[in-house]
Amino acid sequence: MLRIVYTSVQAVPFGPEDLESLLARASVLNESVGVTGILLVSQREFLQCIEGPAEAVRQVYRRIQADPRHTDLQILSSGPIRRRQFDRWSMVGLMVPPQQEGVHSAFSLLDHRLDRPWRTLGKAALELIQEYAHIKLAVEAQP
Ligand SMILES: Cc1cc2nc3c(=O)[nH]c(=O)nc-3n(C[C@H](O)[C@H](O)[C@H](O)COP(=O)(O)O)c2cc1C
Repeated sequence: MLRIVYTSVQAVPFGPEDLESLLARASVLNESVGVTGILLVSQREFLQCIEGPAEAVRQVYRRIQADPRHTDLQILSSGPIRRRQFDRWSMVGLMVPPQQEGVHSAFSLLDHRLDRPWRTLGKAALELIQEYAHIKLAVEAQP
């Protein structure tokens, strides 16, 4: 199996409804070829991890590259994996809120780290995505 983590810059402003329709399409396409992953969306960037059978991941990445809703794609890490990190989702998306002065949330430390331009995260990106997803989903699951 192969995993690719890349970042890109939004070509047009991207809101919650845009994310919803993107995920609806992407998760159907991914499910049909056994690809899973996660997409983080900030005010101006995307950070995505896709994983699965190598040829399927390459094919999905080519489709992602061709999408005019973003530019300047940069792969932060790419390589063979034994196990998936995000096997629960054919594709899940999370909006990362902008860091607010004086606001302390369960994940403000992470938000702070995510506040840098995502292309500067390098190989640390995957770990940060995992931590973020973990905390975010735990917070959202609370009643
Ligand atoms: C940030 C971003 C993430 C995307 N993620 C996926 C994905 O995980 N899987 C996929 O098949 N396509 C992904 N795409 C590509 C779109 O799903 C695809 O280009 C779009 O639906 C157009 O394809 P269509 O004309 O066949 O509908 C992504 C595109 C963008 C901009």
